[in-house]
Amino acid sequence: MKISLQHAVVSLTRALDFVGVDEISHGKRVALMALAIARECGWADGDCHDVLYAGMLHDCGVSRVQEHRQLTETLEWSGSQAHCLRGEEYLLDCPPLARFAPLVRWHHTRWESLQQGVPGLSASDTLMANLIFLADRCDVLLAPYLSASALNSDVLFEYPAIIERLAGLSGVLFAPELINALQRAAIRESFWLQCDPAYVNDVIVESLAADELEELGSKDTLALARLFARTVDAKSIYTLEHSTRVAILTRFLAQLDGMSGDALEEIEIAGLLHDIGKLRVAEEIVDKPGAISTAERAIIKRHSYDSTRILKMAFPGLPIADWGGMHHENLLGTGYPAHREARQIPREARLVAVADIFQALSQDRPYRGRLAVGEVMAELEQLTTAGRLDPEIVGIVRENQDRCYALATGVGQ
Ligand SMILES: [Fe+2]
Ligand SMILES: [Fe+2]
Ligand SMILES: [Fe+2]
Repeated sequence: MKISLQHAVVSLTRALDFVGVDEISHGKRVALMALAIARECGWADGDCHDVLYAGMLHDCGVSRVQEHRQLTETLEWSGSQAHCLRGEEYLLDCPPLARFAPLVRWHHTRWESLQQGVPGLSASDTLMANLIFLADRCDVLLAPYLSASALNSDVLFEYPAIIERLAGLSGVLFAPELINALQRAAIRESFWLQCDPAYVNDVIVESLAADELEELGSKDTLALARLFARTVDAKSIYTLEHSTRVAILTRFLAQLDGMSGDALEEIEIAGLLHDIGKLRVAEEIVDKPGAISTAERAIIKRHSYDSTRILKMAFPGLPIADWGGMHHENLLGTGYPAHREARQIPREARLVAVADIFQALSQDRPYRGRLAVGEVMAELEQLTTAGRLDPEIVGIVRENQDRCYALATGVGQ
């Protein structure tokens, strides 16, 4: 399995940008504005490249819509450090992206505080982290000019007010040299127009095109998938570790089912990222304790389609999107999002579906407590008798139920 790092990061951060729900692509805009300012400063290509990645990844610690709202509606928010720390932790555990951890850690810290020195943070990383902060806050002020489909051209003559506001914070929130570069970059219409929702993804792809493609091996690809799975799982206290544990269980079942080699890694990634589309669902719905309304159900139902699209983009040419994106299809043909018939649902997708249900039942949910292993099995048997789940796969689970339960819950492993 060979995956390009650039390609996977661009696609997976698209899911990260979903957290905005109504207003997506925040990360991409921050990346592009930061890159324009870095170039204006005359930074070396390698540093410009880092800024672009750090911009896309800067909010990888944010999966809750509420938190995203706080961060994008006020210029400074007292709770902003939590996602910086989470982001740093996730990135440090992902070798191909660990280099960006310090930039993400310090991207909401005032320049005047950074100036006092942060142990272990180099002068260039200090400036880069502050640049992400500046581009991030510039995007907050740009937001009123953005709609889902277009950038309001008013920004082209009203931008001086945005720049004046940020310049007023020079030396306090932001490094004076970065503010000066922003002032020079912002007079170009393209600085703003590249942020148009119609173009922002294309401009990102273009900006990365000059890079040499960095191929990831399976170990690094798994680490990358784990990073995004952690972001998804952090969305709700009820889904903590859900994706991680579904992946472990899926791999265990796949092995018993005779899969081997690269396919095992691929199915583990499918397990890790099957719910990545959930980043687009507000946590008020995910966490809701009682029955959900028809409208809320419709919102939840789009997540597996969103997962499919993201996975197709991130892992082109591999079956990961099908294996992960079909976890709510069933053998009766009444599942979603494609109402596939049994013959159109591959064995690997059936494995992910069984692991998903098994793990969800063995975890506390807002509307019920965790079930004991016997209760989980009774539910699975019932779904199998009803014709929804693959009886052979459920048979494998039955024979290994205690081990499956340990893997799904992390208890007694
Ligand atoms: Fe942030
Ligand atoms: Fe799901
Ligand atoms: Fe799930």
